[in-house]
Order: sequence, then structure tokens, then C-alpha cells
Amino acid sequence: MYDPDQQKAFFERSKALLNGQDILTDEDERAAELRQLLKFHEHRYYVMNEPLLGDTEYDQLFKQLERLEEQSPELITPDSPTQRVGSDLDGDFVSVPHLVPMLSLGNSYNAEDLIEFDKSVKRMLNIDEDQPLAYAVEPKYDGGSIALVYEDDLLVRAATRGNGTLGEEITANARVIRSVPLVADFSRFGFRKVELRGEVIIRKDKFAAMNAARAKQGLSLFANPRNTATGGLRMKSPAEVATRELEAFIYSLGIATDENGKDALIDFGTHTAALDALTALGFKVPKANIERKHCNDINEAAAFCRQWEDQREKYHYEIDGMVVKVDSLALQERAGYTSHHPRWAIAYKFAAKQATTTLLDVEYQVGKIGTITPVAKTEPVNLAGVSISSISLHNEDFIREKDLRFGDKILIERAGDVIPYVVKALDDLRDGSEVPIEYPKACPFCDTALVRAEGEAAVRCPNYECPQQVLQRIIFHVSKAAMDIDGMGKRYVEQFFEYGWLNSIVDVYRLPYAEIEQLEGFGTKSVEKLRASIDTALENPLWRLLHGLSIHHLGKKASQLLAANVQHALDLENWTEEDFLHIKDIGPTVAKNVAEWFANPGNVRMLREMEFLGVNLTPTDADKPKAAVTEGPFVGKSILFTGSLQQMSRKEAQEKAAAAGARNVSAVSGKLNILVVGEKPGSKLKKAEALGTVEVMTEAEFLERVSG
Ligand code: IVH
Repeated sequence: MYDPDQQKAFFERSKALLNGQDILTDEDERAAELRQLLKFHEHRYYVMNEPLLGDTEYDQLFKQLERLEEQSPELITPDSPTQRVGSDLDGDFVSVPHLVPMLSLGNSYNAEDLIEFDKSVKRMLNIDEDQPLAYAVEPKYDGGSIALVYEDDLLVRAATRGNGTLGEEITANARVIRSVPLVADFSRFGFRKVELRGEVIIRKDKFAAMNAARAKQGLSLFANPRNTATGGLRMKSPAEVATRELEAFIYSLGIATDENGKDALIDFGTHTAALDALTALGFKVPKANIERKHCNDINEAAAFCRQWEDQREKYHYEIDGMVVKVDSLALQERAGYTSHHPRWAIAYKFAAKQATTTLLDVEYQVGKIGTITPVAKTEPVNLAGVSISSISLHNEDFIREKDLRFGDKILIERAGDVIPYVVKALDDLRDGSEVPIEYPKACPFCDTALVRAEGEAAVRCPNYECPQQVLQRIIFHVSKAAMDIDGMGKRYVEQFFEYGWLNSIVDVYRLPYAEIEQLEGFGTKSVEKLRASIDTALENPLWRLLHGLSIHHLGKKASQLLAANVQHALDLENWTEEDFLHIKDIGPTVAKNVAEWFANPGNVRMLREMEFLGVNLTPTDADKPKAAVTEGPFVGKSILFTGSLQQMSRKEAQEKAAAAGARNVSAVSGKLNILVVGEKPGSKLKKAEALGTVEVMTEAEFLERVSG
């Protein structure tokens, strides 16, 4: 529908407008352009399922048009994207009018936006700004909307959202969704006809299992849970719908009339009470106080939104935000609607996880053991609330597999963990000007030919004296993980390295303080502080020094094992690989690398110099292995804490348990001996009870046992 040149042009115009650049002065032309761009992005999103903009970016563009139309309503055209809610009508199903239009929601992105929303609602309702207003907050499920009509307690009709006014009649499909009751006792409340609104979704794990099964059968894979759910709702055969394991979460009781056709909904008082009633009638509703919450004011609502933003990845379902609704049904009615959304509700959108940007350059970093890491330099783009312009490309294979080229538009993502990741190049936006990335053959810092060990993805600079490697080793040496020299961060190391004061890690212990004091930004005080930190580090446990030598494969744990098994660091000079292997948990790789390191006379000389400068090379108390607790009430027992503890933190409890001889574990299994339950214990207690072999005790009982 759109050719590549056009797509590229639309993409670039959108980015420019989002950055506030090149905005057309003629309002007519501006509105026309925004309409065109929004339609293009809607096509990419809804039809092709390959958005080119993050959700937030799309929303911002949409808002630009909305604002323009608000200022000059004569610019509104019937086909403006602001004049409709997204449509899924395509003629295959019978269209039915909704009892009330299914609207969209306004958006907010942070606590400040919510506070603004709270103020505007109160203004509208003539409520004093200082008066608390109660809200109901629940997840914004990311699936397909559904409207269910019940008459005389029977499900008579189900429809998709369609264009908001007309929906597609999909009753037969809805009937196979197990969580949609075919009969519900609405008469109990005197309701003859009701319309419920909800979202049809698929659990993430079911989605993954379904795709795994499809892969096995050689079928094409579903793109994401959302499309699988919306597509599932609109399949021709209900039997096939049943195989998709759809679920319907009901999030509102929209309309309820009594036998005289009179509105009877408002009697419930609050949205919370209405959802409680639906739960009692057997509907799948977000769980009270866990998935949804009645909040006394907007601050409580904002805190609940934040809590869910933090835990969204752990949730079984895809959610793209939370919905904050005025809880009082009477106030909802008073607040009313715009043509686009209710005035009494707002979506709190989580930071977008995907965005697109342009790959400008690739820089190569050299690590402390010479590993080369390619890093993409991109046009700055906002992703999940942070501006990103640098993204690791991991290694050469990653670049090859994704066929990344300079100038490519790339899709980036921040999912689960916080590190951004390049998902793919948007190759249909290429115009031929993109240039393949030539991976370097020589180290960009010392020009030594790079090597790639067989079977490894990493390419390394083999020059131990490579200035970048030396610098990275010093940075690591002073870091928290190693010598933990407070106040001597990466920036200072880089600066001192540049001045030639740091040529190896031993130089850390003979810094020219008098000269440093003359540097801009330094004074007597800061230099004294630095010197004091370095003096403190002289007394560090031996394992920190060993770890801080950056010996390949020698991690924290192995450093601790070595420190506990020598009288002096230089003992290791005489150890054979064989000797290392006598230590339990030291393997051949560590043995080989440490032995090689000590076989280098330069390294040994460096340690001697360090000792001369005052660095501790002998094991301290902290290097001695902790003796296992052999006495105590819980010796030989495994223990687990669940629920919220009232008298101590989880960490304190675990320390007390360990001191009493217990081994802390993280899950209920056949091997668990003791489960200590705090308030609101969850599934762990049920599981432990089901096993029947676990001793369950309260927090008070636990404390009594450890102190007794
Ligand atoms: S309330 C009058 N609550 O989000 C409109 N909507 O932009 C009130 N959605 O497609 C909508 N979870 O289907 C509401 N807990 C929730 C929701 C929710 C998902 C969907 C809804 C619609 C879109 C609104």
C-alpha cells in the first residue's frame, strides 16, 4: 500500500515533527500532513502489525493533531484519525450497534499527569481541590475489546468494539470462551438487560506453548498475544476459537436496566462495588486488592500504578498500562464523555518498550581482557522514559545475523531487563544508501590483529599492553566489585590515565597528589579524601586484590577460594596448575589462567611493588572461610519465609535462620523442612500444606525457636 520511499519519508517527517522540527506554518497543510502520517502509522500498527513508532510517539503525534483541531475546529475532516476510534470492521461479520458507544481512553504517563487529571475532574464536578476523590484502578489489558449483552440472565449477544458505534457480532465465538458465563443471575439485582465490557486476552505462557506447538507442526508463528486474541475473536469457526484458550476479563458494567427499562446501575454506588458483584456472579474480573484497588485519592492511585509498572513483567498477562476511574458511578455520570473518551477515566500508560531510530555509527570498545564489543551509535530516541543513543551489538555474529547496516532504521526494545536491545533492521525502509558494516580486523586502539578463539563469539585484542585494556583494568581495579576505592570513579581514572599518571594498576598507589591538587575541580579537601580512600583500600581483604587483577575467568568466588588457601599472594607464583585443582570448586580454566598470569615476571614484579607501597597481600579475617554452623535449633533443616513479616525484615529473618543452622531456600519443594508464614501468605503456604511434609510455623513461633 505504501512504497518504500514513501514509508521512509513518512517515518522521517514523523520523527522531525516529534522533535519539534520543520513544522509547517499553514495550519491547513499541517493538519493534512498529520492526518496522512497518523493514517500511515495506524496501517503499520493495526494492519501490518509492525509499528514504526513507539506507542508514546504515536500518541504525541495524535495529540499534535488534536490540539490543532481544538484551536481551529474548522480543520476537522470526517476522516481525521481523531474522529473515530480504531475500527476492526471488515464486512465478514454482521454489524450491530452498541447500546452505548465503546470509546477510547485519554492517556497519562506519570504521577504529574494523574494529578492534573484529578484536578480537571474536580473542577468539572465542582469539588474542592483539597478534597480527596476516590478512584478505582485496574490493569489495562492489551487484547481485544468485547461487549456482552445479557437479557433475562442469558447471554444473548457478544460484539467486538468495531468502530466504537457499530461492533461485529461474534456471539458464537464468545460462547466458547470458558470465562464468559452463558447464564448469570442478574435478576438478583433486579436487572433485566445489562451490557458488560471487557478485554479478551491470552495468558503469556499459553501463548508461548501454542507457538511452540505450531513450530513443531511447521505452522507459521503468531506475532504476539494481543493479535492472537483479537484474531481469535474473529475466526470463522467457533471450534477453532476454542483452541486458542481465550479469556475474557470484565472491566465494566456499562448498562443495567430493570424490567421497565429504567437505569438501575447507579444503585451500586461505585465501580468497585459493581465489579465485586460481577465477581460474585461468576465473571472473570481483576482480583480485588491485588489486580484492582479502590484508592482513597489520586496519590494512592498513582502509587498503585507505579507498583504495577514495576511488576508488569511478572504478570501472566500482557498489560500496557493501568486505568484510573472515578469510583463513584454518580460522579461518573456527572462528568460525562467527550466524543473520544470518558471524562471520568484515564489510562496510565507504561513507558513504551519499543521505539525506532537510525543507526548512525558503530564504535568498538575494548574490555579489560581485550574483548571487542561493537556499540551502535544512534539518533537519540526516548525508550521507556530514558534517552538512548548507544546500544550494545554484542559481537560480530549479532551484526551479521541481523544484517545491520549504517543508515538503517532499526527497531529497538527494552524488555524485561533494562538494557536496550536491537530487535531488527526495518529493511523495507531502505533506500539503497545503507552501507554494510565492515568488522575490524585490527584493534582500533593498538592496531594489533584481532583473534577469535574457536567456538567463541567474542573477538579479542591479544595485546596485554593495549592501552585500552590497561585503562579498563585500572577502572575495574578501583571499582566497587574489586578494591572498592570510594571516590575514584571511571572519570578520574580516565583523566589521570590521560595525564600519564596511571600506566598500570600499581600506579593507583603512587598518585602525584601535589599535581592533582593543581587540577581544575580539585582542591586540598578532595585530594585528602581521595588519599584517605586509597589508604583504606590498602588494608582490603586479599580476595579483593586478586579479583582486581583482571585475570581472565578469575571471578569473585574463585578469588575468595584462592585467598582462603594461601598465606601470601605471592605463594601463587610457585603453584602448578595441578596445585590449583586441589582446591574444591577451582576448575582447570581458572587454574590455567591464574598459573599463566603468575608465570609472567612483569606481573609478579607489579605485586611486589604494590606490597612495597603498602597494599595488603596476606589474607585478613574476611578471607577466612566461615565455619558452618553445627549447633542450633535448625541444624540440617531447610527453611523458607512467605507472606509479609511484621517483626523483622526478610533479610534479618534469613540471617537468624542461618545462625540457627538452617539453610535458606527460595521455593517450596519436597526438600523443604520449615515454612514460616507472615501475613497474607500466598500460594507457597497452599503448596506446602498440600505436600504434607513441611513444618509450618508463624513468625512468633520462629522467633521463639531461634531465641530459645
Ligand atoms: S475502561 C469508556 N478499563 O483499553 C471506555 N478499558 O483505550 C472505558 N481496556 O480498547 C474503557 N483494559 O478495551 C477500560 N480495565 C480497563 C481496560 C480497558 C483494557 C481497553 C479497552 C479499550 C481501550 C481503551
